[in-house]
Amino acid sequence: VLHGRDRELALLRSRLTRALRGESFALVVAGEAGIGKTALLQEALAGADGFRTLHGRGYEGEAEIPYAGLLELVRPLLDLADALPEQQAAALRSALALGPPTGHDRFAVPVALLGLLGAAADEGPLLVVVDDAHWLDAASREAVLFAARRLRAEGAGVLLGVRTEPGGPLFDAAGLEVLELGGLDAAGARALLKDRVAASVADALAGATGGNPLALVELPSALSEEERSGLRPLSTTLAAGGQVEQLFSDRVAALPARTRAALGAAAAVEDGALSQLFAALERIGLAPDDLGPAEQAGVVTIRGAQLTFRHPLVRAAAYEAQTVAERHAVHAALADAAVDARARAWHRAQAAAGPDEQVAADLAAAGEDALERGGRSEAAQTLARAADLTPDPATAAHRRLRAALVAHDAGEAERAEALLAAAEAGPLDDDRRGDARRLRALLLARAGDAPGGIRLLEQEAARLAPSDPRLAATTLLLSAPGHMHVADFDGLQDAAARAAALAPGDEAIAAQVADLSVLARNAAGRIVPRTSPRSSRRRAATSPRASARSRSRRRRR
Ligand SMILES: Nc1ncnc2c1ncn2[C@@H]1O[C@H](COP(=O)(O)OP(=O)(O)O)[C@@H](O)[C@H]1O
Ligand SMILES: [Mg+2]
Repeated sequence: VLHGRDRELALLRSRLTRALRGESFALVVAGEAGIGKTALLQEALAGADGFRTLHGRGYEGEAEIPYAGLLELVRPLLDLADALPEQQAAALRSALALGPPTGHDRFAVPVALLGLLGAAADEGPLLVVVDDAHWLDAASREAVLFAARRLRAEGAGVLLGVRTEPGGPLFDAAGLEVLELGGLDAAGARALLKDRVAASVADALAGATGGNPLALVELPSALSEEERSGLRPLSTTLAAGGQVEQLFSDRVAALPARTRAALGAAAAVEDGALSQLFAALERIGLAPDDLGPAEQAGVVTIRGAQLTFRHPLVRAAAYEAQTVAERHAVHAALADAAVDARARAWHRAQAAAGPDEQVAADLAAAGEDALERGGRSEAAQTLARAADLTPDPATAAHRRLRAALVAHDAGEAERAEALLAAAEAGPLDDDRRGDARRLRALLLARAGDAPGGIRLLEQEAARLAPSDPRLAATTLLLSAPGHMHVADFDGLQDAAARAAALAPGDEAIAAQVADLSVLARNAAGRIVPRTSPRSSRRRAATSPRASARSRSRRRRR
């Protein structure tokens, strides 16, 4: 039972009532670790009478497997996918690795998810709960957010649990209603700690922890009997922030070495993959029984084929408690026990102590697969990691460049910039050097240096013209945004004309050239009258600086 959450529960009830009336809602439950997000979401699920419920969550460390989170979430709805438009259904199956790859349309999967949720809600009220949504892989997160922002009259509710902390992972909740969870007040803390510590001690703990329920639940067992009863003042320094983490690290550290090792392995495997975990334990000379003490200490629970950590922070503590060598051994064992090629490649990479072409090549292939299924951000990340593990400098540079191009496609300019700089520093062949220049030009234009970008593209086009005139033409056309940016319409017309001359008879190029010429003429037409004497006078009268001048003149009078 929840203490001190009357306001929050009332809000949730009102949203659920809304959904029963056929209005959709989306609500982000945000707050620091241990503040009670999961508990509140569970309460919402338990109270959602008459709803079909879907439950998913993000896992720390799974962020590189595209659509892993989405698959878990929508698995129960997959039979409805047949009712979606063919293209959406195919995109969804591709993303979830249930069908052949369909390529790159960025919005196909988010749109399909929206369609799927709508189809489910057609059958009755629907409640979708995603806990620890900040840990969802980027592709799943984008899809879930897209759908959450666009639900209207389906009668579907979306609840997202998101950890917010200074320096914590970013989560863009823009456009969604946010319920910010704070600590419990003194009454709530007393109710929570009733029967465990004296009321005065509850007050002291509430003060020291900011009312963080997790800290309140966990701290009493770290106190002496006399401290709990209030006979002796609290000795433990209860500095706020980070202390809950410390509590868990201490608890993990107190376990036997074999148990700690087994826990480390459990922390590295996705929840639920118990058979994979047991196989891995055997490979590193451990047994399922070694988890026993952790179960007894309440650090994990094992029910059926499901192992669950008491709290995500425990999982993090267990993972962190390993030495580097232990972590490598665990990931190597998990790679051997993995059934999925992507998971195998990923674990093998985590296990690699240094560059290894076989590992790097498998990881690069996993990155390309992620890309085909629409996980651009993960693909860029995976390709970059593959490059880091590549022994041959030229291959490493190629992979880094590829990662940079994918990152740019994913809209991650900063990562693209860093990867491109690293790639440029390596040995690239002429074709790749050209790709690098084109990307550099786009990044320059984006960063405001349009002339620099245009210069690079001109050089590259000149280099390409004798051997590959079509690519030279395409390269010239890439300068269009830069020319527009600096309002050089003659330059744009000129570049377009030269592109057309380079690739006579090429319909795609001709169509682009025609579009750009119209664009340049129109844009120039809009600008020119403004610089004519009459309109420039009008502009002067309304420009901010001019009106500021006249204001100050008025004031002086
Ligand atoms: N309002 C509450 N009343 C009683 N116990 C709570 C309350 N909120 C959270 N808890 C307990 O505190 C612990 C941490 O809460 P949890 O929901 O896991 O936090 P979060 O998901 O924000 O990290 C859990 O053991 C939970 O049962
Ligand atoms: Mg939680």
